[in-house]
Amino acid sequence: MAVQTSATPSKSKEKKQDLVSKRNHPLARIWRFVRATWLWFTIAGVVYYASVDDDFLNLLLLALEQVGRLVLLLSFAILQFVAIFWFMARSKTEVIKPGEPRSLTFDDYKGQPQLLKLVRQWISLLSDRSKFQQMGGQFINGLLLYGPPGTGKTMLAKCMAGEAGVAFMSIEGSGFRAMFFGVDVLKMIAFVSKARKLAREYGACIAFIDEIDAVGGSRGGVMGGRQNFGGGAMGMMGGGTGALTRLLYEMDGVEQKTRFEKLQAWYYTRILHQPPPKRNWHVLFMGSTNRPDSLDAALIRPGRFDRMIAVEHPDRTGRRAIIDYYLSKIQHDETVDVEAIVSDTPGYTPAQIMAAITKDAVRLAIFDDRMKVSQRDIDMAFQEQASGLENPIEELEDIQREQIAYHEAGHALVQAVLDDGHMPVHKVTIIPRG
Ligand SMILES: Nc1ncnc2c1ncn2[C@@H]1O[C@H](COP(=O)(O)OP(=O)(O)OP(=O)(O)O)[C@@H](O)[C@H]1O
Ligand SMILES: [Mg+2]
Repeated sequence: MAVQTSATPSKSKEKKQDLVSKRNHPLARIWRFVRATWLWFTIAGVVYYASVDDDFLNLLLLALEQVGRLVLLLSFAILQFVAIFWFMARSKTEVIKPGEPRSLTFDDYKGQPQLLKLVRQWISLLSDRSKFQQMGGQFINGLLLYGPPGTGKTMLAKCMAGEAGVAFMSIEGSGFRAMFFGVDVLKMIAFVSKARKLAREYGACIAFIDEIDAVGGSRGGVMGGRQNFGGGAMGMMGGGTGALTRLLYEMDGVEQKTRFEKLQAWYYTRILHQPPPKRNWHVLFMGSTNRPDSLDAALIRPGRFDRMIAVEHPDRTGRRAIIDYYLSKIQHDETVDVEAIVSDTPGYTPAQIMAAITKDAVRLAIFDDRMKVSQRDIDMAFQEQASGLENPIEELEDIQREQIAYHEAGHALVQAVLDDGHMPVHKVTIIPRG
């Protein structure tokens, strides 16, 4: 052992000296000189030859012109390619900055007080971050709203837009779809970097992806679910899961330093010899879906969409607030009975209530030559919505009407007896609909 350890350094020393002497060999030196200067000698030779021989000069200029044309053509082709990609990678993102005019506010969001309270709390923490951070609080990365269609998920996000101190960006999930492979990833990168830029500018930014199942659907594979092969024909046509994978990466990396922050950290530590300032901005991702079960498991794990909030059908009190709100927007007479409408609409979504009151009831009143909506218009509107248009019954004999009335009353009676509170009977009619 002892012999080996003493022999090894001297051997390597010998090797090193051997290498140095090889490098200093006159032939090696000449070869290095030729390699470093041959281009300059060639250029100088060509220039000299062109200055003494006119024919050679002409040939040289011709060759230069051809090369110039080729370079121009190539750069134009590359530019065109870049422009096409840039154009395709653009996505329809809506941006609302704090203080900008907006059509909806939290005051327009009715019937879901608990949901509204939670969202308001997060918004106020985002806009006034110091106290929360002082107490060691950590912001959530993602907030996912899920629930049946028409319950107000998109509307809630729209109401959040432009709230004090927080910038807002929204995009529809299918906006990330692209014709070519890779463009969806570019779109996601552009979306997230814009959100970060706005957050740096305003302190916080909400990046909302509506109908997130269009981009965040399960990738399938070992955990089950649908298969989606990114590299196949679907992948070539942009049907892969690139945008989702990128979103997963970006949401994980919310705390990671951006290029600007890395540069800033270098400047502070190396030049100013101070610790770099702490980040004072946050991007909150938000999504909405009515198919939470179809989302990729990785997307909804803690650290990504850590808060999942169910947006359900409004209860009785909620419906009353929503009905009052939409009634205040239309002209109606004193026959309108809010409590009756509330009782008639169990399980209705805000979207259905809004459509019946502000669209159908107003249409029915106008075509009945009235300028005010009555309770009957509203009843008719809800009935139209629930069971379709009325069919005329004029041609029925009285006896037939009576028979149908008994028949329908039978249905109603059974329902009333068997009902467990989910579908109470409010109205029985012999007028067929649909
Ligand atoms: N809480 C609410 N207060 C007042 N109006 C509401 C409320 N929720 C929903 N609406 C009305 O219903 C309409 C539809 O709501 P929204 O588009 O938010 O539904 P959604 O839950 O996003 O449905 P989907 O899942 O189909 O996208 C809104 O434009 C609004 O007029
Ligand atoms: Mg929606």
